[in-house]
Amino acid sequence: MTLPVFSPAPTPVAGGGFDDADYDSFIKKVQAKTGIKLADYKPEQMRRRVSTMATRSGFHSFMAYYNAMERDAELLAGFLDKMTINVSELLRNPNRFDDLVKKVLPPLMAQRKNAALNIWSAGCSYGAEAYTLAMLMHEISPAVPHRIKGTDIDTEILARARDPRFNSADMLNISPERRAAHFPSAGADAWTSAPHLRSKCQFAKHDLLAGPYPKAEYDLILCRNVVIYFTDPAKERIYRGFYESLKPGGVLFVGGTERLSDHRAIGFELQIPFFYRKPL
Ligand SMILES: C[S@@+](CC[C@H](N)C(=O)[O-])C[C@H]1O[C@@H](n2cnc3c(N)ncnc32)[C@H](O)[C@@H]1O
Repeated sequence: MTLPVFSPAPTPVAGGGFDDADYDSFIKKVQAKTGIKLADYKPEQMRRRVSTMATRSGFHSFMAYYNAMERDAELLAGFLDKMTINVSELLRNPNRFDDLVKKVLPPLMAQRKNAALNIWSAGCSYGAEAYTLAMLMHEISPAVPHRIKGTDIDTEILARARDPRFNSADMLNISPERRAAHFPSAGADAWTSAPHLRSKCQFAKHDLLAGPYPKAEYDLILCRNVVIYFTDPAKERIYRGFYESLKPGGVLFVGGTERLSDHRAIGFELQIPFFYRKPL
């Protein structure tokens, strides 16, 4: 798991490194090389994070750091790894998942006549959210082949999601009964996901800022603790994309600190806090 770095930003050198022009050149170059639009991430946080990484690697400007990444694939891979924050855990915010199971899924599943649901965990990190859903859906309807697609911009984290190793911190909210039923031991302080969870989950690379947003494909979309790093216009584009990708009656589940600033303007109705429904 990559932990966020919150060291203070290096002091900008007047007319030199880490100034606005330097950052603008850096984000243009990174987008041209990797397709990642750093301009859509909140500039204060992203700038601080990148300047800390650059300084730690011994560079005195954003562009000196970029030029070195051009020559050194390992430095580039390290940068891409650290600029995405992969913190997650199983059953993260259990009360919200309680609401999902007790208040959101029953009417949704009744409306779909108990057929398999198509679920998207957007910004899935190492898969804890996708496997949480697989566990809950298995508990609700073990014989129904619900499909859960986990996507992330970070290819290395997706490789971990396909063959997960959860540690005791990941497992904090998982009861001993659930642990025994769904997460077999994989060594000291390590648990993995059981085959009946894996068979429900698929993982693929997807950049929420670039799309695509397939039309009316999902019954439920989870996007939690991902858009907090994005600018307001970028968030708005993403939420409109999710609206497109939900089937009528489908639900968007957002993180515990997240709100859609004007869900009605997009077309959503607020079902209960943190759950937005696309009308039938
Ligand atoms: C803090 S984790 C959230 C994991 C999970 N949703 C949860 O709430 O536990 C944020 C994830 O968003 C991913 N991410 C960042 N920018 C992204 C983008 N543009 N498109 C898709 N995923 C992105 C990161 O790679 C990271 O794995």
